[in-house]
Amino acid sequence: MPPRYDELSRLYGQLYRGREDTLGVLLTAMEEAYQARPADLKESDRAREADPGWYRQRSRLGMMLYTGPFAGSLRGVADKLSYLQECGVNYLHLMPLLESPKGRSDGGYAVSNFRRVQPELGTMADLEALAGDCHRRGISLCLDFVMNHTSEEHEWARRARAGEREYQERYFFYDNWDIPNRYEQTVPQVFPTDAPGNFTWQPDIGKVVMTTFYPYQWDLNYANPVVFREMTENLLFLTNRGIDVIRLDAVPYIWKQLGTNCRNLPQVHTLVRMLRIVTEVVCPGVLLLGEVVMEPALVAPYFGTPEKPECHMLYNVTAMCTTWHTAATHDVRLLRHQLNQVAALPRGYTFQNYLRCHDDIGWGLDYPFLARFGMGEVPHKRFLNDYFTGKLPYGASRGALYNDDERLGDARLCGTTASLCGLETAMETGSPAMTEQALALDLMLHACMLSQSGIPVLYAGDEVGQRNDWGYRNDPEKAGDSRYLHRGDFQWDEAALRQEPDSVQCRLFHGLRQLEEVRQSNPIFDADAGNDAVLALGRYKDGEKLYGLYNFSPEPQKVWLSETGTYTDLLRGTPMENPGVLTLGGYEFLWLLKRM
Ligand code: GLC
Repeated sequence: MPPRYDELSRLYGQLYRGREDTLGVLLTAMEEAYQARPADLKESDRAREADPGWYRQRSRLGMMLYTGPFAGSLRGVADKLSYLQECGVNYLHLMPLLESPKGRSDGGYAVSNFRRVQPELGTMADLEALAGDCHRRGISLCLDFVMNHTSEEHEWARRARAGEREYQERYFFYDNWDIPNRYEQTVPQVFPTDAPGNFTWQPDIGKVVMTTFYPYQWDLNYANPVVFREMTENLLFLTNRGIDVIRLDAVPYIWKQLGTNCRNLPQVHTLVRMLRIVTEVVCPGVLLLGEVVMEPALVAPYFGTPEKPECHMLYNVTAMCTTWHTAATHDVRLLRHQLNQVAALPRGYTFQNYLRCHDDIGWGLDYPFLARFGMGEVPHKRFLNDYFTGKLPYGASRGALYNDDERLGDARLCGTTASLCGLETAMETGSPAMTEQALALDLMLHACMLSQSGIPVLYAGDEVGQRNDWGYRNDPEKAGDSRYLHRGDFQWDEAALRQEPDSVQCRLFHGLRQLEEVRQSNPIFDADAGNDAVLALGRYKDGEKLYGLYNFSPEPQKVWLSETGTYTDLLRGTPMENPGVLTLGGYEFLWLLKRM
């Protein structure tokens, strides 16, 4: 028996004791999916198997976007592929686009049909065609697989509501609140103000259903092997349409157990490992990206081990939120500590680095570390939120709170990169000095992100400094969810200004392109300082050394480069002899290369 089969059958037996006979149906589904896999995708599987690091090259640059707000439809996105290529993008994450009920969709994260595209965005055939177009241009496509729950409108949920026991068993149904109340004692809340509690009473059927996220998102019960098998079939249906990367949405939540916090339970890792085996067998060119928005100690286990890998890629969520903390405090000590921790992880781990995504910024910082400097969790979160919502007398940031829970002092934050960097305020007040400062900060944060190991992913619009969309507050379907602040329509007229020399859009767009091109053309990007306002990042490869220096404060800072010799300023292309003491202006950064 092949080793993958042995392991799959062992893991399956662990989760589904007494139901081992159902494994055969899963294996048949895998076989059918393999037979149905188009020849060109099989060919690309083989090429990727021969080059397992294909996705980790320094030339990889991602962008995430919502199909509707970006280009109206999937065909619209196909028409915009040349723009994405102009941005240097070769990895495209399309936000959820499967069928999802209007107004009860959580931005597409409540799927009512895993095999149908949301009609106004197009059809499955359009998605397949787009995947083909992307592949011809060397762009890999990522799609969400919203696996923790379905929409209450999904056929399974409808049949469960209609009283079919078989379908009720695919969810968590209770006749009364006894067990739900016991869960509530140990399970935290995801949306404490927008959607409090983890269960929802269904008056029409007199039952309680588990709804960890929104009340219309019914949690799937993966302890039922039919759920695992049918969801796996849905996943393989998508990969056979040409999707290269599957984003496992909210994956830490997929196993529930009374008396626990229902997060990151060992069974979650068994399920992810099984999915990895399934995809390695059926579509080995496909990658799994885990959405694990947790503290670092809980994130890394989702890579699995070298012998038993789970996800290929994970989000570097801690570096993201710590970067914003650093932008507010002008103090790099926590970021340095955090990046050192990431740097200490095995080299094979691939993180997606990003500044902003479609979600809020949760302040999941290392508070025990911050406590050393007298920063307490609740007051510090308040400071960060005040800073980024522009409540303090200094700072030009414009953001909005998300799920502000007065009791916990635990609000999270929304806003686009540009607005959080102060560009919105600067452009409204017309202050050239503020504009300069906002641009400097925006570019510096991107440079810092782009010099880290892993795959950089831009949030569409950030490349041209798109500001917040406050209009969401007038749309009743969006008003209750401040994440729509940074999910506005792509402003094509503003993006066109990237061609106008000296415009804000032009400076950002080309500033970013330069950083990305330098990153792509220098092999040093393949794989600490004494000044608390300046971050020094070192990269070493084949006798070359890169120093990335970032001044996180608006004040000039001196840094001492003790090593003598010739350095090259990569962004200006100029040599530098024995630099010794350097002065960095406010928010200035340098990429210095030294050959041994
Ligand atoms: C993930 C998504 C988020 C969504 C949630 C529920 O965390 O990123 O946008 O609300 O899952 O599906």
